Amino acid sequence: MFKKVAKENIYSEHGALLLSKGSIITDEIQRKLSRLNTFELPERRPLKDISKNAPSNESQRIFDNAANRMQQKSLNLDPERFNRSSLILKKIIFDAKLNQWWMLTQALFNYLDWLYTHSIDVALMSLLIASQKRYSDKELKEIALGAFLHDIGMLLIPKTILTKTTTLEDSEKQLIKQHCDLGYSVIQEYNLSNISVNIILQHHERLDGTGFPRGISEAYISPEAQIVALADVIDANTSYYPRHTIKDINTVLQELNKKGLRFDAENIHIFKSLMNS
Ligand SMILES: [Fe+2]
Ligand SMILES: [Fe+2]
Repeated sequence: MFKKVAKENIYSEHGALLLSKGSIITDEIQRKLSRLNTFELPERRPLKDISKNAPSNESQRIFDNAANRMQQKSLNLDPERFNRSSLILKKIIFDAKLNQWWMLTQALFNYLDWLYTHSIDVALMSLLIASQKRYSDKELKEIALGAFLHDIGMLLIPKTILTKTTTLEDSEKQLIKQHCDLGYSVIQEYNLSNISVNIILQHHERLDGTGFPRGISEAYISPEAQIVALADVIDANTSYYPRHTIKDINTVLQELNKKGLRFDAENIHIFKSLMNS
């Protein structure tokens, strides 16, 4: 009997490998694929390696998708600014194979699609804000890396908890809250800059001390962690995330400091100015 075989690797719209080249496409698989946005790309490394050896159209697609997501959120970003920030992040995701932390970017890519796109979008939004402040190119790269890896600790939380659509048990909530400390422990051996490390550890701290994991206040939270905290909360509330409803970006912005001064006012001001640029 004739068997249909995948001529190339088939990827999801987020770049996750769904079916490798040579796999037999059964009727059931065909039905599933037809329900998804899929792409057949020339062969790349079997472990979903997104290195610079991967087709350049793949990196382009990942960032085109990011640009689309920003537009869906009514972020009318200046294309030149967006491209500048994309370029910094692209180098981290695709051209940094010799760095020790490279494997972390790969691990993130392979865990959960929505966590990966969240990491990209938070890094892009953080870069867009940081680019309007006085940071050197080196510091911007460190911010991009910290922001891209800000939720790396989630990789140590079971998928069954992260993807749960019903109410979490208290113990599960506590475990998720540990992702900052878990992330901090994961990156210990990778010699990241202080800027990147503080972002991973402090992105859920709030200026009024109501955040976690330490409950520290403004003076103790690094300025870069404050930028990523803002980008993180905006993206998390305006994107898919299990167990919550997606909010409109203007509603999210209005709610930011409603219950107290939790996010830096200057960062919010910069973000709002970017929306209309
Ligand atoms: Fe987080
Ligand atoms: Fe996050």
